[in-house]
Amino acid sequence: MLIKQEFLISVFAVLVFTTGSQIREIAVDTGRNLTLPCSLPQTKHVMWVHEGKEDHQIPRLSVQDNGSLFLTEVDRNDSGIYTCSQEDSDGSDIKASIKVRVRTPPPPLPVKVHPSTILALLLWYVEDTGGYPIIYFTAEYKLANSDEEWKPISPNRISPNSRQIEVYKLEPNTTYAFRVWATNQLGKGEVTEVEGHTLCNNQELELARHFLQGAEKFDTRMWVIAVGVVMGTLVLLGVGTCLLLYQECRAPSGTTVMLRQLT
Ligand SMILES: *[C@@H]1O[C@H](CO)[C@@H](O)[C@H](O)[C@H]1NC(C)=O
Ligand SMILES: *[C@@H]1O[C@H](CO)[C@@H](O)[C@H](O)[C@H]1NC(C)=O
Ligand SMILES: *[C@@H]1O[C@H](CO)[C@@H](O)[C@H](O)[C@H]1NC(C)=O
Ligand SMILES: *[C@@H]1O[C@H](CO)[C@@H](O)[C@H](O)[C@H]1NC(C)=O
Repeated sequence: MLIKQEFLISVFAVLVFTTGSQIREIAVDTGRNLTLPCSLPQTKHVMWVHEGKEDHQIPRLSVQDNGSLFLTEVDRNDSGIYTCSQEDSDGSDIKASIKVRVRTPPPPLPVKVHPSTILALLLWYVEDTGGYPIIYFTAEYKLANSDEEWKPISPNRISPNSRQIEVYKLEPNTTYAFRVWATNQLGKGEVTEVEGHTLCNNQELELARHFLQGAEKFDTRMWVIAVGVVMGTLVLLGVGTCLLLYQECRAPSGTTVMLRQLT
């Protein structure tokens, strides 16, 4: 446990009285030793259980003469409710509980990546800060399955309010590895690594290339014939229109002639 030793120094335990449940709560930094008092009137021959399980009675825990439970170098798994109990004179159990919250560097963040062609969006959320507020996030990326160094994603210290960041200047159709972690006053949290494959060049470019390839193969003789056909049709239409107009213009005079003959 590398992290543990790093935080042996910065420690304090806070006693909180929770209003609702009346269970006393103790917060302690990871790596510290902890003494839990048993708040029963008599503390001879008490038994301690953690989260209802006695199997936690490992060498790291020991019950002292005054009934206190001593925990050596706590880690995040030592969080939870501890209960000391004792059989009283009429043979029934009396119990007292105390809640322990072990503060740690931030646990791993759930991270997702949404890659597009040349950029990717990294998204995460915070389930648990480790017990102290997050000071900043850090994100890095590199080519997947390569020996390349991790590259920082700007800014180096991402605001604790951020839940996403964009990565620019990626190559299309390439697999990248991304990693994100949070830092609190106890230090760097656990790292989450995800992979994402950028999309191929967009479809419009593909279409344009396709069209150009078609144009190269295009036979110019076919082009001339097509233009000829269109031009021919236009000429015929033009001539036809003129003839019609000519007839329209002549028609009234024709009628006059007929009328004159009738009178
Ligand atoms: C915790 O207790 C062990 C002995 O049980 C001792 O060796 C160690 O130095 C203690 N650590 C701290 C941080 O007090
Ligand atoms: C019980 O004894 C230990 C030392 O053995 C001491 O550190 C602790 O403060 C005592 N607790 C109470 C409640 O007297
Ligand atoms: C906590 O417990 C889990 C499984 O119960 C184990 O994998 C993990 O290593 C433990 N963590 C520490 C810090 O001991
Ligand atoms: C994407 O990359 C793979 C190999 O890395 C290659 O086989 C494929 O043709 C590429 N696709 C495009 C559209 O460039």
